[in-house]
Amino acid sequence: MAHAGIEIAPSVLNADFSRLGDTVVELEQAGVGRIHWDVMDGQFVPNISMGPAIIASCRPLVNLPFEAHLMVREPDGLIPAFVEAGCEQVLVHPEACTHLHRTLGVIAALGARPAVAVNPATPLSDIEWVLEDIAQVLIMTVNPGFGGQAYLPSMEPKVTALRELLDRRGLDVEIEVDGGITADTIPDAASAGASVFVVGSALFRDPAGVDHAVSEIRERGLSAITPAA
Ligand code: DX5
Ligand code: ZN
Repeated sequence: MAHAGIEIAPSVLNADFSRLGDTVVELEQAGVGRIHWDVMDGQFVPNISMGPAIIASCRPLVNLPFEAHLMVREPDGLIPAFVEAGCEQVLVHPEACTHLHRTLGVIAALGARPAVAVNPATPLSDIEWVLEDIAQVLIMTVNPGFGGQAYLPSMEPKVTALRELLDRRGLDVEIEVDGGITADTIPDAASAGASVFVVGSALFRDPAGVDHAVSEIRERGLSAITPAA
């Protein structure tokens, strides 16, 4: 089972929006691998969060890759604005796209990395015929819409099944998990086969600060995939 290591992808959905610029700088200094922007339209999910202007305002502050997680119904028309805002990767939900293959083509044609995010109830068979067209699969380990929810361990077999499918097909596609990732839940998610971990509220509720939270969560993930000496 291939492991690319442990990459922390902070979601700023639960950050203090009045100091978002300082927060992304803090996260870069803490050694995270990217910034995960949770975009919600109030239709596909029962919440509204942020748009491309917020992302564009933070783009010049850090050198980190940005990924836009579009929890948006029929996102095709909005994708250019997120790429323009500085997102190198755009994740869309098959549950929200009538023509998923075409939507992924829209992302690729703009020079961004296409990716899919699948809800807990969505089977891998729904994305089987686009695996060759994407750079990453995000397995939701909560139902989308809010930070601070409880991790769904029932998604671990889905992560493992996807890892085995990708290995069988010889596809270099990243597996990311998203929702309820903490120091206590990352070990099992990493053992299941994920290598990128979206972490939101667990970063911002750590009394020792973001830097401590990033290090602790990464270490707990690494300890789960590093063979005992
Ligand atoms: C939920 C979002 C997640 C969430 C992660 O719809 O996609 O990225 O904000 O936050 P935590 O880590 O608090 O579950
Ligand atoms: Zn997300």
